[in-house]
Amino acid sequence: MDYKNSVVYQIYVKSFCDSNGDGIGDLNGIRAKLPYLKSLGVDYIWVTPFFPSPMFDNGYDVADYRAVNPMFGTMADCEAMIAEAGRLGMGFMFDMVFNHTSWDHEWFKKALAGDPEYMDYYIFRDKPLDWTASFGTPAWEYVPELNKWYLHLFDKSQPDLNWDNPKVREELKNVIRFWKGKGVKGFRFDVLNLISKPERIEDCGPGSGTSYCKDGHRIHEFIRELVTDTQIEDMVTVGEMASTTLENCIRYSNPESHELSMCFNFHHLKVDYKNGDKWALMEPDYVRLHDIFKEWQEEMSRRGGWNAVFWCNHDQPRVVSRFGDEGQYWRQSAKMLATFIHFLRGTPYVYQGEEIGMTNAHYTRIEQYNDVECINYYQILRERGLSEADALGVLAARSRDNSRTPMQWNPQHNAGFTNGTPWLEIPDNYRSINVEAEERDPDSILNYYRALIQLRKRYPIIAEGEIRFLDTGNARVYAYERSLGAQRLTVVCNFSGQPESAAVAVPAGEVLLSSYGDGAAPDGQSLRPYEAFAVLS
Ligand code: GLC
Ligand code: CA
Repeated sequence: MDYKNSVVYQIYVKSFCDSNGDGIGDLNGIRAKLPYLKSLGVDYIWVTPFFPSPMFDNGYDVADYRAVNPMFGTMADCEAMIAEAGRLGMGFMFDMVFNHTSWDHEWFKKALAGDPEYMDYYIFRDKPLDWTASFGTPAWEYVPELNKWYLHLFDKSQPDLNWDNPKVREELKNVIRFWKGKGVKGFRFDVLNLISKPERIEDCGPGSGTSYCKDGHRIHEFIRELVTDTQIEDMVTVGEMASTTLENCIRYSNPESHELSMCFNFHHLKVDYKNGDKWALMEPDYVRLHDIFKEWQEEMSRRGGWNAVFWCNHDQPRVVSRFGDEGQYWRQSAKMLATFIHFLRGTPYVYQGEEIGMTNAHYTRIEQYNDVECINYYQILRERGLSEADALGVLAARSRDNSRTPMQWNPQHNAGFTNGTPWLEIPDNYRSINVEAEERDPDSILNYYRALIQLRKRYPIIAEGEIRFLDTGNARVYAYERSLGAQRLTVVCNFSGQPESAAVAVPAGEVLLSSYGDGAAPDGQSLRPYEAFAVLS
């Protein structure tokens, strides 16, 4: 299947559906919900890591790449899940965490025991550097037995692999071959642009480890080798690219470079970081948000790159809470945000619960949180002098747990997620925001996502058209035009909770969809709060 024409659904396995009452989502739970995903119309399903792991980073710390964590099921469950998706015409994309392993991985255990062959799988130094890791700690960790320090760009339980060692690259290729053999149809590569470390590490000064390792000098070579040697060039592949550049992403995703189908970048999800600090709150900068999309969309289109387009994943707060409205305009804003993403040039990703307008968690006590990153930062914020209430306020907006609360299936006990006690608390609003309620309502957010996905299948302009952003004269009203041959698709979105006026000339044509859905004639001059529409002419 052509990835350009596809829609990907992301499952955070721990929170999707629990089949055995232990409060933790699992592979059999995913299998049980495949008909639901089929009814949504998605083509691929990306599942976050379910491999054996001590779970310091909820599975992004992998102890064995070729087995199933008993907490999530068995290899037989995994095979049954893959087979069932295949029968329904959908394919799985598995999540390959290849920048680092868990410290429980046998390679790292051998390294710690002083085996030089395995020490060379990781990055050890006699002296640490003054680098910070992404979760707020130092990036070099001391091992007294070896009198050496190892690099971890994330938690200390996630030592970074040494990709300059060809043996490491071969090991990881074998992981791909293993899952390919099981019938997996694509791969998501975790923080892939961090794998190539600086040529002369000792020359790096103090700073964030990520900033020294992003898009490193051998990155394109490593990706191309991984993809061509495992013959996955024809599968869907997406790389998660941290702090990357447009230039690099064009190369990563242009078919001529034989690297990936597409990449994620996160520039648009930092427009509410004060001075670039995720843990300092600020209203979103809507001018920047617009300009980032305009630049990435138009340049990727012009120079043959391909974007993964998205608002939500398991690391981001819920989009309706962030750029939309949880109150009066909950429905319209969720639909507007979906409209904007799904008509862009790129492959749209829907993160579980986004399609029903799930919101942030609204936790008020630190004990309610689980994620290592926000628990570390809570401490850091308190040390910076924030009151308990202010620190909790930051977490309520920024914690990754906001998107990790269990999927809200129905208004019954525990939102239909589990018969047991959920591993993470479910927001109270599950009584009104849930799949069952939205299935019944033709005007629901869920049914709007279904319509968006079907339109992509019906009109090639959505997958293939060129893109050009239109000047609207209003910083809160975004508009773009897709074009294919003589056809035009004009999309207008009001990113504000107020009526706004704008200056867009909307050509006469067929209204494919609108966030109000009340049949009112779309107008590029006066828009209702969070109004969005797409007109084909
Ligand atoms: C990626 C994952 C995130 C994880 C990190 C380290 O950003 O999406 O959840 O913590 O990589 O593996
Ligand atoms: Ca379970």
